[in-house]
Amino acid sequence: MTANRLIPFLDLQLQHQSLRNELVAAICSVMDDSAFIGGPSVRSFEMAFAEYLGAENCIGVGNGTDALEIALAALDLPTGEIIVPANTFAATAEAVIRAGHRVVFADIREDNYQLDLDDVKGRIGPDTVGIIAVHLYGEPADMSGLSALCMRYNLSLIEDCAQAHGAEVDGRKVGTFGRVAAFSFYPGKVLGGIGDGGAIVTEDDDLAGRCRMLANHGRSAKWAHELVGRNSRLDAVQAAVLNVKLPFLDDWILARNSVAKGYRRLLSDVEGVSVPADFRTGIHAYHLFVIRTARRDELREFLKANGVETGIHYPVALCDQPAYQYLGQSGKLKATVVARQALSLPIGEHLNSDDVEYVSGLIAAFFSGHRRVQ
Ligand SMILES: Cc1ncc(COP(=O)(O)O)c(C=O)c1O
Repeated sequence: MTANRLIPFLDLQLQHQSLRNELVAAICSVMDDSAFIGGPSVRSFEMAFAEYLGAENCIGVGNGTDALEIALAALDLPTGEIIVPANTFAATAEAVIRAGHRVVFADIREDNYQLDLDDVKGRIGPDTVGIIAVHLYGEPADMSGLSALCMRYNLSLIEDCAQAHGAEVDGRKVGTFGRVAAFSFYPGKVLGGIGDGGAIVTEDDDLAGRCRMLANHGRSAKWAHELVGRNSRLDAVQAAVLNVKLPFLDDWILARNSVAKGYRRLLSDVEGVSVPADFRTGIHAYHLFVIRTARRDELREFLKANGVETGIHYPVALCDQPAYQYLGQSGKLKATVVARQALSLPIGEHLNSDDVEYVSGLIAAFFSGHRRVQ
């Protein structure tokens, strides 16, 4: 049977439709000016994004993975261990290894999926040189706790903000807490381009200069290669698109928050489901709204049969992935169990309160045994 109502997980077509004229004009102006590499759209986005965040420096790069890799290379830390949450996208760990360091996975809290500070603390050793705070699903990590740990043990704090554009804690945007921060503008992110894109943000001007050089073949001038760099540039078309979208980011975050509020209200009392703890000390960007249930796969099938698309972030904790099993942490962390239970519900400005009630009603019906297939 096919469902007569469809709730997509994400609806970029709708977002782009509403901005179509502005987007087309912005893309055409890159073409008309032949300003394909660097140029005004990239510079103006870097400036606008830095201003939006309240940051000193923003360097556009090719994608969020490059942003992390270049940031870590620019820090030039002594080779050592970097603590990474076990529940994140692979890019966070990849960047550590590509920069020549060793990954140590730290566990996460079950109530909000963020780094468990006690676990992080227990993993700091003589070889630890840094911690990557991932603002997972759009929720700011515990920045005061992590900053204090980094200060106490003389570690570098790096922020992975790929999922948390516009998220804020204690009145300060994420991306401005660590020594350096990485953003992704992958299309499905809260602020996304129409292809790959990324940015590095830092308060440190020297570090910013090194990141800019590393991302542009190590150049300090056209034919002066001071460092062994690479080519990772924010594409001018992506920058033009991001310039159009940035002014809408706060509204989109508000819309995401109202969807999250609806889910929380309607699902908190449903037995069998755990909703994430409410974030009360700032702004959650709600890139994702992730619930947990022991009957995840069954529920997902039921929702699908009723026209509701869901996602899983992430089905396998990084410590359990084949590439990282050599670290010997597989199966030893709570993140392993969370990965079996996590289900990402549709969220975004494409949903209205009826949609949220529909999805929540289906979930409640699933757990009460009164299942219906449309
Ligand atoms: C937490 C996290 N870090 C890093 C990245 C990498 O970003 P990109 O896909 O732009 O390379 C992503 C993107 O999915 C992410 O979610």
